[in-house]
Amino acid sequence: MSALIDIQNVSKIYASADDSTAWALQDVSVQLHKGEFVCAIGPSGCGKTTLLNIIGGFTQPTEGKALQDGEPITAPGPDRGVVFQEYALFSWLTSRENIEFSLRVKGVPKKERRERAEHYLDLIGLRRAADRYPGELSGGMRQRVAVARALINEPEILLMDEPFAAVDAMTRATLQEELLRLWQTLGLSILFITHNIEEAAFLASRIIIMSPHPGRIKDIVSVDLPYPRDRGSPEFAAVYGRVDRAFHT
Ligand SMILES: Nc1ncnc2c1ncn2[C@@H]1O[C@H](COP(=O)(O)OP(=O)(O)OP(=O)(O)O)[C@@H](O)[C@H]1O
Ligand SMILES: [Mg+2]
Repeated sequence: MSALIDIQNVSKIYASADDSTAWALQDVSVQLHKGEFVCAIGPSGCGKTTLLNIIGGFTQPTEGKALQDGEPITAPGPDRGVVFQEYALFSWLTSRENIEFSLRVKGVPKKERRERAEHYLDLIGLRRAADRYPGELSGGMRQRVAVARALINEPEILLMDEPFAAVDAMTRATLQEELLRLWQTLGLSILFITHNIEEAAFLASRIIIMSPHPGRIKDIVSVDLPYPRDRGSPEFAAVYGRVDRAFHT
């Protein structure tokens, strides 16, 4: 059986205007499987966003292959839902209209669009904010809308680039719990990028630890702790310690 996402010996070199080149990724190989919650963690500039952009189809590898179900990824597609750190919602559309947007582009009839959007508004607990504009929502609410907007296409994988980095700690903890609930009830596959070891230890079934200059995979840690995880438990501290050591050595 082929992996859901198969990254084979991928390198990415960016050419700059001043003729210098940046090795954003060097010889990265990793597979993501259906149903996994994989976190990628590493210091700034280690190529996390570049890796996500390659899987998203927004950019192509310089060398190597990026495959989805054995087929090369050549462009963005609704089967890979993306949630970014910054609130990439359309400011002139309401929550409901943002969530429906891709269905409208695909020509899905209004009644079906509405029903599907209602379903996802319920899942993220924002039915009451359906007719509000992004400017009228809190940061946490906006990220919930962004998640619903990605999920409405029923993607094979959800790609999330530091999605909760800009919200306060309490909201962040709530969003993490909600995302785990969605992951479990909908059977999602998720690649989640973060700077935060605790966040990775709380969420991930597997943690990819990256290092910079050039961006490479340093280590991959499987996390066998059951969900929901107790941040205060010795088992959690042990996972944290393992990742922290891999991160800093
Ligand atoms: N479009 C681009 N053109 C040139 N260089 C780039 C481009 N995008 C990224 N880079 C460089 O590639 C490297 C990896 O960048 P990337 O954004 O993937 O890192 P990151 O791990 O996501 O960092 P952060 O944690 O700060 O978001 C960096 O050295 C960056 O300067
Ligand atoms: Mg980044």
